Amino acid sequence: MTTVEQTIGAPLTRVDGPQKVTGEALYSYEFPTPDITYVWPVQSTIARGRVTEVDASAALALPGVLTVLDSGNAPRLNTDAEVSADLFVLQSPEVAYHGQIVAAVVATSLESAREAAAAVRLSYAPEPHDVVLRADDEAAYVPERVTDGGPGFEERGDVERALAAAPVRTDATYTTPVEHPSPMEPHATIASWQEGRLTLHDSNQGPRFAAQLMAGLFGLDLDAVEVVTEHVGGGFGSKGIPRSPAVLAVLAAQVVRRPVKIALTRQQMFALVPHRAPTIQRIRLGAERDGRLTAIDHESVQPRSRMLEFADQTVSSTRMMYAAPDVRTTVKVAPLDIMTPAWFRAPGHTPGMFALESAIDELAVELGMDPIELRIRNEPELDPGTGKPFSSRSLVECLREGAERFGWERRDPAPGVRREGRWLVGTGMAASHHPDYTLPSTATVRAEPDATFVVRIGAVDIGTGARTALTQVAADALGVSPTRLRLEIGRASLGVAPFAGGSMGTSSWGWAVHKACRALVEEMRGYAGVVPDGGLEVVADTTEDLQERADLSRHTFGAQFAQVRVDADTGEIRVDRMLGVFAAGRILSPATARSQFLGAMTMGLSMALLEVGEVDPAFGDFANHDFAGYHIAANADVPKLEVHWLDEHDDRSNPVGGKGIGELGIVGSAAAIANAFHHATGVRVRDLPIRIERSREALRAMRDLAGERGSGVR
Ligand code: MOS
Repeated sequence: MTTVEQTIGAPLTRVDGPQKVTGEALYSYEFPTPDITYVWPVQSTIARGRVTEVDASAALALPGVLTVLDSGNAPRLNTDAEVSADLFVLQSPEVAYHGQIVAAVVATSLESAREAAAAVRLSYAPEPHDVVLRADDEAAYVPERVTDGGPGFEERGDVERALAAAPVRTDATYTTPVEHPSPMEPHATIASWQEGRLTLHDSNQGPRFAAQLMAGLFGLDLDAVEVVTEHVGGGFGSKGIPRSPAVLAVLAAQVVRRPVKIALTRQQMFALVPHRAPTIQRIRLGAERDGRLTAIDHESVQPRSRMLEFADQTVSSTRMMYAAPDVRTTVKVAPLDIMTPAWFRAPGHTPGMFALESAIDELAVELGMDPIELRIRNEPELDPGTGKPFSSRSLVECLREGAERFGWERRDPAPGVRREGRWLVGTGMAASHHPDYTLPSTATVRAEPDATFVVRIGAVDIGTGARTALTQVAADALGVSPTRLRLEIGRASLGVAPFAGGSMGTSSWGWAVHKACRALVEEMRGYAGVVPDGGLEVVADTTEDLQERADLSRHTFGAQFAQVRVDADTGEIRVDRMLGVFAAGRILSPATARSQFLGAMTMGLSMALLEVGEVDPAFGDFANHDFAGYHIAANADVPKLEVHWLDEHDDRSNPVGGKGIGELGIVGSAAAIANAFHHATGVRVRDLPIRIERSREALRAMRDLAGERGSGVR
């Protein structure tokens, strides 16, 4: 028997590692499918208007072409679902954004499909479009709800009065750009119909959710749809539900009566996969001279598409981070002619905490107070937003441990003074936070007569290590070695289970697996531990357990630290060091958890310094839509990253005690870098990314300041 210490919490090597490194692991597009055909989308070259004519004659004349689909001949979908209308593929000639699928070619080879797609002639009736986000957009409005279900507007106390009375105030506007989730594996689908039943091999974050969506769109019973999602090369939210190319593949397979596959090219990803909404955020803070916050006003203006009101939860962290009596939080959305923005790793919290944690740093400078001390002074007892106790909240411990490990006490608080040759050097920090979500899940576990076990759950491993973590949870609950059990995941038919999103996988699936395994152990007692012929099977469902949970506020926390250096002549910025300390309950699978934090902090670095989708107002497109123009941090950009976590065990979240970690590591990381940039140069950059042109602007401002003060700094 293996003890708990040897399973949960042990650095078990990724269980699917050997399959992946040998190329044995099949990704969706690679699933061998006889009689396969290929669909290639034709994308709109206008951002708003309608398609008036589709001339498919030249395309149809090419060898291997089976059909050309457009809104006139595509099968009808059930368009009642509350999803972005771009999932209603080829249902109308209306164009809502640049790059939308307006026709498609199905052919017997990929090359034929692609060539024929280029030969489809489209005529349009364009209308004037607007793709530019403006803080003063007159059409912007406050949505009733943001994506976490909270209100679009909330005010506790009287913020204007509290601000007017505050002895110390800050007021600044921060912006974050469009960011494109760019998983290594692009969105890919194989769709096959067999006598009214639909099977998808699809790269997504939740096969059960994918099946539900497809069943709804195609008017099928849920059990007539199987979605197989064995291995996924990342999603970051963009694969939270199937996107329009997957729907296109299903439509195409219906028409040609053969299986159809699609994998997006990298360029297609930029148009057809939702992006992170840009934000314009104004934050006003009021404080006593001792640092106690008296007022917070946080407003975020964001775009929405004309197809769906997606209002990112940008101000939600502000609702619960700090103990201020008067807090006002507002999201406004401006309808634009764009693809519907959607989830991207820690949606809302990531851009929101960039702004909030920059603003807190500005307040610390204003007060002449250490930014860690300022945060500790504003630590709330209860969730300030809901008044509920926290299931666990170890932010202060993260800040203290981070400070100690980073060597914070050696920092000279004065900005712009540390110089090493040409380099201006600075350090900064920020807090991190993500909600701890858990949704009902089912799991099945089976004891075989040969004393092995099979665990089945409709979970999915998008590269996070979920397979490994769930193996450890099961081995622990069964009290057996991980080598004695087999885990089956990645199929819609495995039962009700949430998706790999919102960092809810580990707690939701883990709980169900734990419950099923414990129940099986109980049941086996009745057989004196001997598995009867035919095996023993137990199904667990956590729906009721979740309803019975105490009414608490559940979150994860962290502290992010960074050191940057800025070349005083060229403006080049290098991140020297990043360190994160996190509190997310019990860390079930340390090896894969560490990878999650490393990846998320890297993504935060990339957000801070590099990533921006450049909106082209003239064409309504993104001017950069490949990896030559859209820069993501590469190896040379990423320094030594240090990841630590507290030894927490949150059994008021779930009986396993572990919480989700997929998103926590990105939140606050960009602010830590921007705060370090300020410490290095003395100049605050409030607009991301801090690319070299912004850095050079900052250096010019720094020299002007130095000139005014008559200091010796160039
Ligand atoms: Mo994550 S952006 O909630 O899939």
